[in-house]
Amino acid sequence: MNRPGDDDTSARSGPASSAAGPIPDVDTTVPHTGRVWNYWLGGRDNFAADRELGDRIREFLPTVVELARADRDFLGRAVTYLAREAGVRQFLDVGSGLPTADNTHEVAQAAVPEARIVYVDNDPLIHAHARSLLAGTPQGATDYIHADLRDTEAVLQAAARTLELDRPIALTLLGVVEHIPDSDGPYEVVGRLVDALPSGSYLVLAHDTSVVHGEISQEAVRRWNESATPGITLRSPEEIGRFFAGLEVLEPGVVSTSRWRPRPTDDGAPPPEVDAFCAVGRKP
Ligand SMILES: C[S@@+](CC[C@H](N)C(=O)[O-])C[C@H]1O[C@@H](n2cnc3c(N)ncnc32)[C@H](O)[C@@H]1O
Repeated sequence: MNRPGDDDTSARSGPASSAAGPIPDVDTTVPHTGRVWNYWLGGRDNFAADRELGDRIREFLPTVVELARADRDFLGRAVTYLAREAGVRQFLDVGSGLPTADNTHEVAQAAVPEARIVYVDNDPLIHAHARSLLAGTPQGATDYIHADLRDTEAVLQAAARTLELDRPIALTLLGVVEHIPDSDGPYEVVGRLVDALPSGSYLVLAHDTSVVHGEISQEAVRRWNESATPGITLRSPEEIGRFFAGLEVLEPGVVSTSRWRPRPTDDGAPPPEVDAFCAVGRKP
């Protein structure tokens, strides 16, 4: 298997062992969202094709690195709030991405060591790196599932190995639902997962949009869709809000990820908006 950081982009990998079982093939020649994202976040788990596309997008949309960081910071603030203040003890993180700093289990278990976290992703490379997502506290539990978000039944069935589905769960969908095209019914997919969770559960969702940078973000996504996988569908803040139908959306509502309960800045000014909007909703 090609090692991330290798510059040989020509080979397809063979199977190898991992914490979570045999690894399916990794095609390193096609830029993949989790690996380009890892590159923007300063990680090493990416290949030449990922870095080339990451650089091309960044030339066009220089704020894309801030967008990736704002997403991770939002994850940190939202998960800390849910664990520390809302009493949530279980997290289902779908589209988890490659392990990086402050993964969901680290944030949740720093607040509540007993927290239980299940990660789900469909990128074979993430499957190979799952071991570091599984090193949680002895009091809590972590698991990793190689599955597709759209296969909600498989996700829920496997999650039930670690999570009690009749107790509140925070479902985190960060930077993943934009990879579900309209033709695959993204609202139905999210709805099926939320429907399966009990009252007192939460949906935490962040999604790419173009409301801040307009045509520049739209062109960046056109370039992405020409060569990378999976494709991205931008949605407006109103469309992002529709994922929360039937939920009580917490303050401050649907906002840029950088503006969801931001930490106070030195000059008191709100942080610049990025083209990913988010919200946190509670199931009544
Ligand atoms: C942009 S990254 C975001 C990673 C992480 N959630 C974060 O916010 O830092 C998107 C992740 O979603 C995963 N993904 C995309 N489509 C998916 C699908 N249909 N099912 C499961 N995971 C998916 C990708 O493999 C990638 O790891």
